[in-house]
Amino acid sequence: MNSAAPMNPGPRMNPAAPMNPALPVTPAPPPVLVLGQVTKVYGEGETAVRALRGVSLTAERGDYVAIMGASGSGKSTLMNIIGCLDVPSGGTYHLDGTDVGALDERRLAIVRNRKVGFVFQSFNLIPRMSALANVELPLAYGGVHAAERRRRALAALDRVGLADRVHHQPNELSGGQQQRVAVARALVTAPTLLLADEPTGALDSTSSGDIMNIFDRLSASGRTLVLITHEEEVAAHAKRVVRLMDGRIVDDVRTTPVGGPPPRLAEVAS
Ligand SMILES: Nc1ncnc2c1ncn2[C@@H]1O[C@H](COP(=O)(O)OP(=O)(O)O)[C@@H](O)[C@H]1O
Ligand SMILES: [Mg+2]
Repeated sequence: MNSAAPMNPGPRMNPAAPMNPALPVTPAPPPVLVLGQVTKVYGEGETAVRALRGVSLTAERGDYVAIMGASGSGKSTLMNIIGCLDVPSGGTYHLDGTDVGALDERRLAIVRNRKVGFVFQSFNLIPRMSALANVELPLAYGGVHAAERRRRALAALDRVGLADRVHHQPNELSGGQQQRVAVARALVTAPTLLLADEPTGALDSTSSGDIMNIFDRLSASGRTLVLITHEEEVAAHAKRVVRLMDGRIVDDVRTTPVGGPPPRLAEVAS
C-alpha cells in the first residue's frame, strides 16, 4: 500500500446533518469496526481448519457487544483479528476507518497500541511490578513522558476503584483487583475499542459483578466495548449479543440502542 494513502476511507455523510448545501457537513466518524466476509484458515491441505467462514460485522461507536459461542466456534480467532493480533485469510477489516488488511506487521502493531485496549481472562499483569507501573507500561510504549504517564495511570486506577492499591504488586492483590488493574491498563491509552476475552472467567461472582459494573459505566460514558463470554449473565450486560457457530454468525440481537445506557446500568439507575 502507498504509505501516503489516507488512513480513513473518506467522510461519510452524517444522516443527522442539515441538508443545506451552504452549511458545512460534519462527517460522521467511521464505525469502530467493519468486518466484511472475513475468513480464517489455519494450516493447509488435508488438515486445514476453517475457523471463520465469512463473518460480516459492523459496530458503531458506543456499542457494547457480547460475542458468544461454544468452544471451537471461532471466538478467539475473531477476537485476535478484531484486536489486530492476527490478520484474516480473506475478506476485509476496517478498524476505526483504517484498512487493517493493508498494514504490515509494524504498522499493525502501532494501530493495535493506539486503538485497542485488551483485557484477558488471566489478567496478564507483569509480576513484581506495581499496579501503577503495570498501568503505565502501554504509555511508555506510546512514548508518553514520565510525569504524564503517572498522572494518567493514577487516574485510570482511580476509575477502577484502586486508588489505595497503586503500589501493590499483582501477587498482593485479589483476582478481582488484578483484573481491575488490567482494565485500568487497557483504558489508560484511551483506546477506540475495549476488547475483553472472558474477562470474568477466572473470577468469583462478587468480583465478576465489580468488573461488569466497571464495563457498564465505561459504556455509559460512551466507550465502545466488545467482550467475548460464554456466560449468559455476562452477555446480559451488553447492548447487543452476537452468536457464533462453526465460524459463522448465526444470531445478532440488539437489546438496547447504541446511544442509550447499557441495560444493567439502566436497571440500577431506575
Ligand atoms: N493456531 C491454530 N492452529 C490450528 N487450528 C486452530 C488454531 N487456533 C484455533 N484453531 C482451531 O480453530 C477453531 C476455532 O478456534 P477458536 O477461535 O479458538 O474457538 P473458541 O475461542 O470459540 O473456542 C477450532 O477448531 C480450533 O481448534
Ligand atoms: Mg477461545
